[in-house]
Amino acid sequence: MSNNEQTLSIIKPDAVERNLENEIKDMFKKKGFLIVKEKKIQIEKSEAEKFYKVHETKPFYSDLCDYLSSGPIVVMVLEKENAVLSNRELMGATNPKDAREGTIRKKYGISIDKNSVHGSDSTENAKIEIDFFFND
Ligand code: CDP
Ligand code: MG
Repeated sequence: MSNNEQTLSIIKPDAVERNLENEIKDMFKKKGFLIVKEKKIQIEKSEAEKFYKVHETKPFYSDLCDYLSSGPIVVMVLEKENAVLSNRELMGATNPKDAREGTIRKKYGISIDKNSVHGSDSTENAKIEIDFFFND
């Protein structure tokens, strides 16, 4: 039986700006993810603030929201068995310096803030985040 799950992935401005969209999508596809929905958009800071509300008390919150709204991003729904965990593994640690070989952040991340990708951290948040961007 298949145990397909969905997760939300974002290719962040630093990666879109460096034309890494296709390379990163290839990494998802090679790991067996299906990209079931995708769109390239630019969001307002106010939308970034809603999306990252969980981090509103953190010192990096304002910079993070400025950053996510600073340029085009690619938002995707990825589908696979255990998609949430599998995507977190493929992304690597938040700080690219700590990310393992073979992960997206190791390969493409520049710094802890410009770390190229976002991925949902639980199945519950995946549903909320997918609904946030694809509420049709
Ligand atoms: O993205 P991830 O779930 O791995 O990390 P997070 O703890 O949920 O933080 C969200 C985002 O905030 C990270 O991806 C970083 O881009 C940013 N961040 C930062 O700029 N400085 C920190 N000290 C921690 C996180
Ligand atoms: Mg997170």
